[in-house]
Amino acid sequence: MLKIPVFIFSAWLLRGSFMAAQVISQASIPAQLPSGAGIYDPSLNPKVQSLLRKMTLDEKVGQLVQYSAGQPTGPGTGRTDYEDMLAKGQISALFNISTAKETNAYQRLAVEKSRLHIPILFGLDVIHGFRTEFPIPLALASTWDPQIVENAARVAAKEASATGIRWTFSPMVDIARDPRWGRITEGAGEDPLLGSVMSAAYVRGYQGSRLDAPDSIIACAKHYVGYGAAEAGRDYNSTEISEHTLRQYYLPPFQAAVNAGSASIMSAFNAINGVPASANPFTLKQVLRKEWGFKGIVDSDWTSIAELIPHGIANDGSTAARKAFSGGVDMDMASSLYHDHLAALVKSGKIPVEEIDEAVRRVLRVKFALGLFERPYVDESREASAMLQPSSLGLAQNAAERSMVLLKNAPGPNAAPLLPLSKDDRAIALIGPLADDSSSMLGAWQGLADSKDVASFPVALTKQIGEDHLLRAKGVNVIGGSDEDINAAVAIANKADLVILALGESGGEMTGEATSRAHIGLPGRQQELLEKVVATGKPVVLLVFSGRPLTMPWAFQHVPAVLAAWFPGIEAGSALVRTLYGESNPSGKLVVSWPRDVGQEPLYYNALSTGRPIDPATPDNNYVSRYIDEQNTPQFPFGFGLSYTSFKYGATRVAAKQLKASHLMPKLGNGGTVLSVSADVTNTGQRAGEEIVELYVRLEGTSVAQPVRALKAFEQVALNPHETKTVTFNLPADAFALWNDQNKYTVEAAKATVWISPDSARGEGAAVEIIP
Ligand code: BGC
Repeated sequence: MLKIPVFIFSAWLLRGSFMAAQVISQASIPAQLPSGAGIYDPSLNPKVQSLLRKMTLDEKVGQLVQYSAGQPTGPGTGRTDYEDMLAKGQISALFNISTAKETNAYQRLAVEKSRLHIPILFGLDVIHGFRTEFPIPLALASTWDPQIVENAARVAAKEASATGIRWTFSPMVDIARDPRWGRITEGAGEDPLLGSVMSAAYVRGYQGSRLDAPDSIIACAKHYVGYGAAEAGRDYNSTEISEHTLRQYYLPPFQAAVNAGSASIMSAFNAINGVPASANPFTLKQVLRKEWGFKGIVDSDWTSIAELIPHGIANDGSTAARKAFSGGVDMDMASSLYHDHLAALVKSGKIPVEEIDEAVRRVLRVKFALGLFERPYVDESREASAMLQPSSLGLAQNAAERSMVLLKNAPGPNAAPLLPLSKDDRAIALIGPLADDSSSMLGAWQGLADSKDVASFPVALTKQIGEDHLLRAKGVNVIGGSDEDINAAVAIANKADLVILALGESGGEMTGEATSRAHIGLPGRQQELLEKVVATGKPVVLLVFSGRPLTMPWAFQHVPAVLAAWFPGIEAGSALVRTLYGESNPSGKLVVSWPRDVGQEPLYYNALSTGRPIDPATPDNNYVSRYIDEQNTPQFPFGFGLSYTSFKYGATRVAAKQLKASHLMPKLGNGGTVLSVSADVTNTGQRAGEEIVELYVRLEGTSVAQPVRALKAFEQVALNPHETKTVTFNLPADAFALWNDQNKYTVEAAKATVWISPDSARGEGAAVEIIP
């Protein structure tokens, strides 16, 4: 039986008013991947071996070379002779090509012209959809629902594979604690547990139950590792991450991807403690290969092998190729240095040919597992019909509705919360640069989405309230705008009974790769527009479109209703209208701490206490870990999100007051229950609603200081008005585990506190003692 580590995510759902919760543990245990799980299937080995035996050294090197043949997403290599190279067997994979006609044409060259007829693998950054664009990954994570993510990835796989693409450079599972980093939009936020759950969900969705199904594509968990810790939030910047922090926070989502069967991993651009991630034997060989047993492809990020030179660990291309390859990178994306130097490095004895063979085996195994040798071509006649299926659009709309986070909902003119709006004959002014920006609704990495397919917000709103009731003015652009336009918008606001302001960042240009921002407030003159519109005295609903939390303390103080809409994708308009009018009741919760000011960054909930935490009893003491000019707390904590109804949490109850570390240790990774924790949750409002119930643990007295809270489980609970449910989490031993001072995953004697709470800052904890 195949023994590989697995990341457990089990769910028990009982009926009635008693609920047990989804529990996730972070341990490795031997497990069996589903049959046909592809790269771990031992029946592939003889095929791989027999092909490898026929290959020349140059052909082997060719299997480790990848280029972009379409629209570049990074600096080019200057090469354009792909056709000639394919015929010579010098290319293994191409990406950024996205029609069936083109992939088939390139494939024909590889299969028909090259000596060994080895098919090529086509890749693309299919990040949150292909033609059917889903909300950005940060928004998808805000649903806290792995099934939504898995469904979205499945739709993306079906659409992309219809064009011959069988490899997506997704999921991005980088833990991100700093919203200055533009790529925070691409991930699942700051928490390792939530990040791991989402990571596995993407992999399951893309890869399906069998890799050789024509509509399965391989995943590529990226960017391994620590890329999200870029200092000062500046993209591509270096990182300093202790082994403890790496193991406890940054590695788990990658391990989750590996354990879900991800067939590839992308090595990152950043240096970790001085060693670039694309030439890092500790992370790539020790952790990924030895500890986790990963057998898939390690692909470099775009020219990250060539970048070893500016990083300062190689003075020429040959050394860069040697260090990357010896460090554990199988395939060279776009830098061409493997093509230029690997064969010579083998001939000069600097790289053993056995290591080349092993890397080539990994690539061939993936190609066999995908069924590419049997079916190298895609059926061009079925390409169009795979796209934009009604069921896919339905999933996209549901995902968008579930991803929005209601941040504030204070009373409007009639003393009731301003949202949801009612269908009456009020005149509504729709103002702001994001009110009618279909392209931005698609966010960063738009795949093959067409902004013309996006459900327009003004159109959907007009349908809802009638043309006569909608007044419109842009006010300003995302950046820039004139006094006249602002004045015109204020005049429109004055004529209306209520204003919907759509403000934020532009989806494509201000979020995603290479979009770090030092100032993370509303860009341009939007703050000015906001203040002038609010000064009219009209009730204002603020829709924030962004790929990161934006610092807007003034807005949170002065605007009654604020909805974080992120970039909702192709069904933006319909999802927004349904949410504003209460046909969908918001249930999304933040997966990042929302800062008050950029100076607080990096700001994350699972931080350490410090030796001088703030003591609420002595608020004037400055000799504690604090700012003299800003609060420590976020504007909104991790896990926060409102609903149109309200929920009340009872006290956290634990089934035992004491646990034994020595009993827990053998159970690490084995699932099972070591402690049941419950709380009553009541819907105290007038509407049915869904609440994400969160469970946090703190451990004190351990060998390495542990965070003030760490998420260990969560569950979505549906409650009718006045209904109470007892939510029970059956926690496995892993909920009390940590990476200790010897970098071992274990359970230590500790004073534990367990909270069942609506977010990471509230709740009434229960004490549990862990004795040796
Ligand atoms: C990005 C990767 C992406 C690759 C290929 C790089 O610049 O960092 O996330 O997959 O380009 O487009």
